[in-house]
Amino acid sequence: MSEQGTLDLTPVESILAEFADQRGAVIPILQRVQDIYGWLPPEAMRLISKRRRVPITKLYGVATFYAQFYLTPRGRHRIRVCDGTACHIKGAPQIIEALTQELGIQPGETTPDGAVTFEVVYCLGSCGLAPVAYVDQQVMGRLNPEEAVAVARKLREE
Ligand code: FES
Repeated sequence: MSEQGTLDLTPVESILAEFADQRGAVIPILQRVQDIYGWLPPEAMRLISKRRRVPITKLYGVATFYAQFYLTPRGRHRIRVCDGTACHIKGAPQIIEALTQELGIQPGETTPDGAVTFEVVYCLGSCGLAPVAYVDQQVMGRLNPEEAVAVARKLREE
């Protein structure tokens, strides 16, 4: 059974059924739902709120508190630029600025064409390669703004 709307909520129903006997399991439920959709669609949030009897505002409060949750769809690709101390000193701010210009979005946002989600993170554990970015699962070290822009352009053409 699913609620009205275009989103297929069957997976949410299954997850809710799985956690039916567990009190206060909201975070694992949100994690599982995000694993399915890549983000937390409002239809899924409404259904979770209803079934778990958690006010929707509280549910959004939980989701916004944890950086791991996404309330907007993510892009087909993900660029994460590190702005931890080592990367910051070696030029991360210039890379971030160049990508902001190139993509036309701020960190934390996704390009309107759905191609790229751009994020700024703090220390990816590869400080020796600073400045560092992850493009999807691939690490790029000793990056410069020109290379970062070239990568972003290529991703949008794919
Ligand atoms: S500070 Fe950037 S990887 Fe550690």
